[in-house]
Amino acid sequence: MPEQFAPQSVLVTGGAGFIGSNFIHSFISRNPGCRVVNLDILTYAGNLENLKGVEENPDYRFVRGDIGDAGLVSRLLAEFRIDAVVHFAAESHVDRSITGPEIFVRTNVLGTQVLLEESRRHWQAGVVPAFRFLQVSTDEVYGSLGDTGFFTEETPLAANSPYSASKAGADLLVRAYYETFGMPTLNTRCSNNYGPYHFPEKLIPLMISNIIGRRPLPVYGDGLNVRDWLHVKDHSIAIETVLKGGKPGQVFNIGGNNEWKNIDIVNLVCDLLDGKLGRQPGENRKLITFVKDRPGHDRRYAIDASKMRRELGWEPSYTFEKGIAETIDWYLANQEWVEHVTSGGYREYYEKQYGER
Ligand SMILES: NC(=O)c1ccc[n+]([C@@H]2O[C@H](COP(=O)([O-])OP(=O)(O)OC[C@H]3O[C@@H](n4cnc5c(N)ncnc54)[C@H](O)[C@@H]3O)[C@@H](O)[C@H]2O)c1
Repeated sequence: MPEQFAPQSVLVTGGAGFIGSNFIHSFISRNPGCRVVNLDILTYAGNLENLKGVEENPDYRFVRGDIGDAGLVSRLLAEFRIDAVVHFAAESHVDRSITGPEIFVRTNVLGTQVLLEESRRHWQAGVVPAFRFLQVSTDEVYGSLGDTGFFTEETPLAANSPYSASKAGADLLVRAYYETFGMPTLNTRCSNNYGPYHFPEKLIPLMISNIIGRRPLPVYGDGLNVRDWLHVKDHSIAIETVLKGGKPGQVFNIGGNNEWKNIDIVNLVCDLLDGKLGRQPGENRKLITFVKDRPGHDRRYAIDASKMRRELGWEPSYTFEKGIAETIDWYLANQEWVEHVTSGGYREYYEKQYGER
């Protein structure tokens, strides 16, 4: 195994979102004594209820703010002697990038540039003995695959949606900061995540929540688009593994070896919930409604994650069957969380905990 970097004080951006909050839960429990500063502006996707259970931890600090605010970022890096930035903050929903791409460029490209630039100044000032900047990205930067083949770290970038284009732009800036300044950057690219705290606009939580409420289950096009699914807990550990052991300047693909057609996932979730909700077999499938396809809908994504196994010894631990059953149980047990997200009530939690917005 390569020499391990041991972070003492980590700035997590976007830690109130789906993957960021799962990462914080996982990282704090596995790294006691390491400070975690969560910088999140709390867009519609940021939900502090995701962080119940870590808020009282003395290692944890929440700061509401914008990654594009250079003064704030610079102050946090210095004040907390940050030696690692784990960058999740983004606009992340492809459909929203089609109707309003501007904010995707502002947050994902320009915001990342500000973080990189302030990190460079901080790293070059030499106040911490070692430093890492880890950019969390997506396999969508590689574009779409045919029926066969996998994305490797060498696959050329060929983003097709405004979302993936903005992530690809950020990834190239991250690369440029390594190549130009020698800043120790890392770049992970991950397949679709699922698990707890997933905002119910995304496929799996949307299906679960609509089935519970007996609402129609919208499936794009013919439902035959293929995605490679990774449990968010496996992703969290993969990111920690890259942060500590990844060679700076490199890209690491993270995937679950779990290719599923969208329609097969929807059928599986329907059938599992028939059982769990005491409904007739096949009852939930009647809710499936095929809707007009998303423009530029990539047909297939599949990740070759062998570099993660070969170089860092990481492998996913969840099978999809186990992960999806656990995820459904989580949503059933956390209906209050779902209700708060759907009604917008989760926004009040910030005011209760931290005062007026
Ligand atoms: N969800 C997936 O399946 C997936 C897969 C691969 C990669 N990714 C990447 O992982 C990262 C996290 O994804 P997610 O699904 O958790 O996203 P999310 O939308 O759930 O969370 C994004 C978080 O970023 C915060 N944020 C947005 N703009 C900000 C700004 N200007 N300043 C500070 N905070 C800001 C939001 O408030 C929110 O808490 C993203 O970079 C995404 O591109 C996601």
